[in-house]
Amino acid sequence: MNQNASQGDTTRRDFLQATAAGGAVLTWPWTRFVHAAGSDVVKIALSGCGGRGTGAVSDAMVNKVGAKVKLVAVHDAFKERVDASLHALKGRFGEMADVPPDRQFTGLDGYLKLMETDADIVLLCSPPGFRPMHYEAAVKAGKHVFMEKPLAVDAPGVRRIMATNEEAKKKGLRVAVGHHLRHEVKHKEMIQRIWDGEIGELMYMRAYFNSRGVWVRPRKPEQTEMQYQVNNWYYFTWLSGDHIVEQHVHDLDVLNWMMGNKHPISAQGTGGRQFRIGKDYGEIYDHHAVEFVYENGVRAYSYCRHIPGCWDSFSEHAHGTKGYVSIEGHGHAIIHVQGKDPVRVERGPDGHQLEWNDFLQAHMAGQAYNEVDATILGTMTAILGRMATYSGQIVTWDEAIKSELDLSPSGYTWDSVPQPKPGPDGIYPCAIPGQTKAY
Ligand SMILES: NC(=O)c1ccc[n+]([C@@H]2O[C@H](COP(=O)([O-])OP(=O)(O)OC[C@H]3O[C@@H](n4cnc5c(N)ncnc54)[C@H](O)[C@@H]3O)[C@@H](O)[C@H]2O)c1
Repeated sequence: MNQNASQGDTTRRDFLQATAAGGAVLTWPWTRFVHAAGSDVVKIALSGCGGRGTGAVSDAMVNKVGAKVKLVAVHDAFKERVDASLHALKGRFGEMADVPPDRQFTGLDGYLKLMETDADIVLLCSPPGFRPMHYEAAVKAGKHVFMEKPLAVDAPGVRRIMATNEEAKKKGLRVAVGHHLRHEVKHKEMIQRIWDGEIGELMYMRAYFNSRGVWVRPRKPEQTEMQYQVNNWYYFTWLSGDHIVEQHVHDLDVLNWMMGNKHPISAQGTGGRQFRIGKDYGEIYDHHAVEFVYENGVRAYSYCRHIPGCWDSFSEHAHGTKGYVSIEGHGHAIIHVQGKDPVRVERGPDGHQLEWNDFLQAHMAGQAYNEVDATILGTMTAILGRMATYSGQIVTWDEAIKSELDLSPSGYTWDSVPQPKPGPDGIYPCAIPGQTKAY
């Protein structure tokens, strides 16, 4: 969207792109800034001081819309992560990220203290298994929220996010979701072209998140089982949702966006673990392949893999009766229409920056902003895909969204008991299609 456009310049396309960018309804003009805090400083607080949380604070700080942002409080399950994040942020931003010890919170309940601070916006960037609980607390405390994707790991979590989101709207809270692709120039341009019918009638879509995988945090002797799993969170479904939910959700959200922010009605698929099978790899799969069916019969083919030495791709593709669109997550996008020269759109600025520009612009102008309604469908789509690969069944959207399968642990203290249990050899059982109850 052209952020310099005056009200008179607003076109249908601008409006559609704004709404497409997360379903957030942004009204013009941008120029009348209203500071929610009654000062010219936007106070933010971070829960989840890892790579993305620290990065999101940086993106907020260096926003391109003139917001003066100050970090006032932080929380992480582990103190060493608070220390590392603050060290990096203070080194870069000085007093704007100088959080005194009495506003540094740790442990699994530290988020509650974070909500008691005078922050205007809280950033929820811990593992997604905690997101529904943290979002509920933030909205109860009347905070505006930036929260990372995915929004939940199971259907009860999705329903809790949706219920909380209704409260957020009633309270007039602004809520951004870290689906940065929805803010990227090339995605917005190509999805508008699909919506405008340039590739004809949509026939099928494809999406990939194939990579070598992510970090491993091995067990330390002094850790309780809960501490171990929360630290090595990627490999436990109750914490990450499995990599189809944790990462591939980016692409699945784009497929739903291509479809006009609609969700599939069913899925069937296959998956397993072939490479990542040791003790450090918890219970998740290392590959999933899913066929989603939308209400109008359009099918989407989704593939995600975490195995080094294979073909890697982070991309989405739409095929229509007159042509096709291919969008690279970290690169350009291209549209081929029969009888015309292909049109290539370069990536432009990183969506992680653009999402903060858009959110802070709306925040300062006191405008409504809520990206949950559109993107919760992406989270639920990814969970539906996992239900299909874990179970080996055709799973319908209705079955999936009504599922009572709750992946939560017995509680949220370091002595609580997570559901995954290692065998005598230290290996965690993983889902077996045809046997596992996955929804
Ligand atoms: N939008 C994107 O492009 C993007 C990129 C990377 C990660 N992410 C998302 O960001 C989130 C965090 O990922 P990351 O890569 O920063 O992981 P990370 O492991 O680097 O950071 C997560 C942090 O959360 C902490 N934590 C764990 N449990 C917690 C709890 N209950 N309360 C508070 N803190 C807790 C961990 O100790 C860790 O420091 C995930 O949801 C991930 O999907 C999004």
